[in-house]
Amino acid sequence: MKEISGKTNVIGVIGNPIEHTLSPVIHNTLCSLMGIDAVYVPLKVESDIESAVKGLSESGVYGLNVTVPFKRDVMKALSSVDEEAAEIGAVNTLVRSNGGYKGYNTDMQGLLRALEAKKVELSGKKAIVIGAGGAARAVCFALMHGGVTDIYLLNRSVEKAEDIAKDVPIVKALSISDYKKIPGDKYLMFQCTSVGLEPADGLVIDDDTFYIMAEYGYDLIYNPAVTPFNKKLSELGIRNDNGLTMLLYQGVIAFEMWFGVKISRNISDAVYAELCKRLYGNNVVLVGYMGSGKTSVGKEIAKMRGMDFIDLDEYIEKKEGRSIREIFEFESEEYFRNLETRTIKSLFKLSNTVISTGGGSVLRKENRDNLRKLGEIVYLKADVDTLVDRLKGDESRPLLQAESEAELRKRIASMLESRNPYYEIFADQVVYTDRLSPFEIAEIIEV
Ligand code: ATR
Repeated sequence: MKEISGKTNVIGVIGNPIEHTLSPVIHNTLCSLMGIDAVYVPLKVESDIESAVKGLSESGVYGLNVTVPFKRDVMKALSSVDEEAAEIGAVNTLVRSNGGYKGYNTDMQGLLRALEAKKVELSGKKAIVIGAGGAARAVCFALMHGGVTDIYLLNRSVEKAEDIAKDVPIVKALSISDYKKIPGDKYLMFQCTSVGLEPADGLVIDDDTFYIMAEYGYDLIYNPAVTPFNKKLSELGIRNDNGLTMLLYQGVIAFEMWFGVKISRNISDAVYAELCKRLYGNNVVLVGYMGSGKTSVGKEIAKMRGMDFIDLDEYIEKKEGRSIREIFEFESEEYFRNLETRTIKSLFKLSNTVISTGGGSVLRKENRDNLRKLGEIVYLKADVDTLVDRLKGDESRPLLQAESEAELRKRIASMLESRNPYYEIFADQVVYTDRLSPFEIAEIIEV
């Protein structure tokens, strides 16, 4: 528990409703990781935003976020408004300035940083944006600033799309039903409507010929983790993400502005992991080298805590109707890794399950991102001697067929050396398994 003193700075978010905000997770995690003495609290403002901001300013509140329904109205309570925020017409971050606050909008930069982190190139590209609310507006500005040349903006009520087109010159407004008028080409696609938030929701446009125009897709919704839009693009083999990274980076940028710090990629990733844990799975994901005991320990945890158990390799074997060894032999390692990536992605509906992963699965960033959404990551660590003991004579492991024990030892040591950093950084918990039984290890793991 953080100790609060007379010197602790207060930061927070004003909005209404505010009960479900995830911003405290972002900022309190950042305070703790960056060693900054501040606390972040949600503050519900009933209606009079001007008096609220004045009071908070008088009380020395160090910085604020602003959310629905005050992103526009808050501007009249500020000492100044940043140019970009004025252009977008919405403020989400207040920074102390001239005895009051200056208003900024970090949503736009947040999306740009999220796309950069995902290595999505914007410059010279064309985009399709679905939806024309406040979120779509920030997305259109972000895309224009990022160098996108054309945006087709589809909305149920075309007037709202036309409003955005007036402010963003590269936008062409269309009604949803006119989607077939978009010229055949490759587009970055952004889903900015509220459709997908409810379990019964389908797609705004239910036509594969529309989605195959996407070279990449981003849904601003992050709960559920996989929206109908995400699911459709994945089915069509098109790379896509949900909106959690935009939420993350709009917060990271606000924090950087308040405290004049730079948040590294590693720290951002740690905050992201915290958000995933809060939002998504209550599963346990076991990672580690082959022979580290993922299957036997996984079964023990499942038994002990009344959870289900899945061994990812077995699951793939069952689905494919052949063994991993055969897949390596008749296809290739690449083929297997792609299969593994698709399988991990398909696990998002699991809950209360212990998942034991293949030893190499965490080498791909995409797999790490998707595993993180499932729940707590536990690395079962074992030293080389333990692993040699457990693995010698096992012929089912295609990557480990060795002439002698010395050769096996060499191979394990070198693989451990390259994989250990991935396991260590990725895991929420590292558990040393040497000389312990699966039952004893299962007991140590905190879930
Ligand atoms: P935000 O500020 O988060 O973007 P918003 O301003 O309420 O939220 O915008 C919601 C978006 O979802 C709008 O584009 C809305 O379309 P309309 O402008 O036509 O209302 C879109 N939307 C909501 N429900 C929809 C539905 N069932 N079908 C299509 N679009 C829908």
